[in-house]
Parts: sequence; structure tokens; C-alpha cells
Amino acid sequence: MKSLKRMLLIQTLLMIVFLICITTISEVFDKKIHFLFILSFIFMNLLIISKLKSESNFIEKKGPPQLLKLNQREHYLTGEQEEIIYNKIRLIVETFENMHKLSKKDYLKKVFDSAFELITEAEKGSFFEFDGDKYVPILSKGYDFETLMKLSFKKDVAFIGFEYADNPNIEAYETYIPERDSSKFSKEIIEAFKELGTYSGFTSLYAPIQVDGNNVGMICLENFNKIGFKRTSKKILKHYAQLISHFYSQRIYQEKKTKFYKDTVTALASAIEIKDIYTEGHGQRVQEYSCLIAQKMNLSMEQIENIKIASLLHDIGKIGIPIEILHKPGPLTKDEYETIKLHPEYSKKILENIDGFSKIVELAYAHHEHYDGSGYPLGLKGKEIPIEAHIIQLADAYDAMTSERSYRKAMSKEKAIEVIRNGSGKQFHPDIAKIAVEDVFTLYK
Ligand SMILES: [Fe+2]
Repeated sequence: MKSLKRMLLIQTLLMIVFLICITTISEVFDKKIHFLFILSFIFMNLLIISKLKSESNFIEKKGPPQLLKLNQREHYLTGEQEEIIYNKIRLIVETFENMHKLSKKDYLKKVFDSAFELITEAEKGSFFEFDGDKYVPILSKGYDFETLMKLSFKKDVAFIGFEYADNPNIEAYETYIPERDSSKFSKEIIEAFKELGTYSGFTSLYAPIQVDGNNVGMICLENFNKIGFKRTSKKILKHYAQLISHFYSQRIYQEKKTKFYKDTVTALASAIEIKDIYTEGHGQRVQEYSCLIAQKMNLSMEQIENIKIASLLHDIGKIGIPIEILHKPGPLTKDEYETIKLHPEYSKKILENIDGFSKIVELAYAHHEHYDGSGYPLGLKGKEIPIEAHIIQLADAYDAMTSERSYRKAMSKEKAIEVIRNGSGKQFHPDIAKIAVEDVFTLYK
């Protein structure tokens, strides 16, 4: 608007200057050119004036453009529509909450419930996972799950309309099934379709779940009113399928990482067994007893996971103890015993080089501490010792007593239980000793 006004002013000034000049030296120019120039000037000004007028009318009628936008927005975000948008955003955001903490089934259920709330045309739904060479149902909404379990399809069977294809893009598809092609399915599956109501006359909205371009599952929503799904619903399901695919990718990556981690821990644990044949299977047994006690004590998953690793690796430091001392057939001298007592320190030194092992280091270092402070290496007592280390210490002592050593025969289970009972409140934590004796060792075959 301002620029047009400026143009008009400049043009007028130029014209005045031109007219002055032309009047002064009028003999030099052709009068026709003079006339054409004045005509084009008038025409240009008429155009500019008409443009200015139309903009002015627009402002008078509707106000400035930015105000119009603001008013539209305020109108749109009021009342019921604002509430609907808020609820939809909340639903989507909630699907990301605690994603890493939930089990696969709980997470899928959460996503499924959320998708049902957003895609209001969906009446029933199911989630199929690709297991080995076929799709099997793992979740359903509105269907009888036992009947649904009768359905499992090979990857190349078009059980909804989708045929297996290496499509790198995740898309949602919609298909109306007037009647199933009975030549493609067994009698049992046709019966199951009929029981579920998915034999004929329904619309399915479905999307494959993919990891690295390979199908790992299928999410399917159905409606039975022959209206089908809205275009927006198709887009929403596509995004949910992408979200689930991302979840599967993360889980598969995590599983690979966990396996690598477990293999490394097992390899470390076997290192000590190669050196000390008398400790063969000791780590695994201590791990088993410790975990049983921890479960009976209702410790958290994180605590049990730490116990699992620390109990397997607690004696890794024995690698640093001379084999003559480890395999000595008779009782140890005072100096030899002092050397053996260094192994928690060595365990600490080895394990503290592993990233994320700070708790494991703490537990392995404290696995010879006693409840009454008579243990080593620091002589900690009671609550100064982590509860997980108390558990490992007791399980370690029980397995050591009931296993053969180079200098003595294995003790009977009953005798070992008696030793633990007598050591309760001294070497062993009394609460742990009670649970271990009554709920674990007495029942353990
Ligand atoms: Fe030890």
C-alpha cells in the first residue's frame, strides 16, 4: 500500500520535470511521441489508483489481514473443538510416555487404545505379530481372543487384502471385504472368521509394522457399517504404524545389546572357572540362589538384575590369585589366607573398567563382608553393606559349604542350613537368613 503511494508520487514528479523540459525544448521532439507519453502516464496512474481503491475497500470491509487471521484462530480454538484438539494431542503424547519401561504387550495395548479413541469409526481391532513364518494374533479389541487365536497366516497369504511386499514405506490400506474367498482358507479358519464376524460385509483399515523394510506385524481395525473409514483415519493409522515400527526397532536393538552384554558377562564368569576347576558352576549356582532369595524378598527388578550379574562375577578377582593357593589341598597359612582375601579388591579392579557397572562393582567388592562387621575387605557391618551384597554373601557361603573343595569334602545341605541358622545375626543378615533357610534352601532340590 505504502509502496504504491510512493510510486505514484515519484511518477508524478518525473512527469512534471519531463513536461518542463519538453516545453523548453519542444522543437526537438515529435508531437506524436509527446502525446503517447502523456497517454501512457494517465493510463499507469489510473491502474495504480484502482489498485489503491480495491485495497482500501478490503480494509474497510474486513480489517487488516493479520487481525483477520487472529480472529479466525480465536474462533476456531474455542469451545468443543478446542477440547477435542486438546484430547487428541494428549492421547498422542501419552503414547510416548514410559515407552521404554513398558512391556511389548502393555505398550501395544496403550497404542491400540489410543488409536481406537482417535479413529472413532473403528469398532473392532487386532494386532498380528510375525512369528517365524506366519502372522499370529497377540492383541485384540472387541474380538474374542480365543477365537482370534485360531487365526494364523503365512506371510504370503492375503488375509485382509495385504499381500507381503518389501515396501520400504509404511502405509495404511483400506479394503472392503464383501465375502472371504473360501478357496484360500481352511475350513477351521472360515469357521473362525464367521464366529468373529469377519467372514463378509466389513471394512478393514490395516497397516504393516516394519523394521528395516521387513514386516514384523500388522495392525488391523474393522468397522461393520459399510461406511468405511475417513481419510484422516487412514493417515492416523499410518502414523501409529510408524510409531509401533519405531518401538519394534528399538526393542530389537535393545535385545541385541542385552544379548551381547549377557554373552560378555558369561565369558568373564567362565574365565575364573578355567583357572579354578573347583569353582565350576559356582557362579551360576550363587546366581540362582541369590535371585530366588531376592524374589522372595520382593526386591525391585533393577536390584534383581544387579544381583544376577554381581553374583555371577563376584569371584572374578580370583584370576589374580596364584593357582597353588587356589588348589592347595590342605589348610591355608595365614599369609596365603591374606592373599586369598585380596580377591574382592581384584574383582573391583577388573569390573570397574566396565561402563555402567558401578553397582556391580560395589556388590562384588562387598561379597565377603559380614553382618556383624567380622568380614573383609573393609569390615563393614549391618546397613553399611548393601542388601544385595548380604544376599550374595549368604548364597556364596551356602554353595561353598555344599560344594567339594581341594582341601575338604562337600557339606550336606542340612548341615549347611544349620550353619546359616547359627550364623544368623553374626555372619549373615538375620532377615535374609530366615528367608533363605525357610523359603529357598529347605525347598530347593
Ligand atoms: Fe569370594
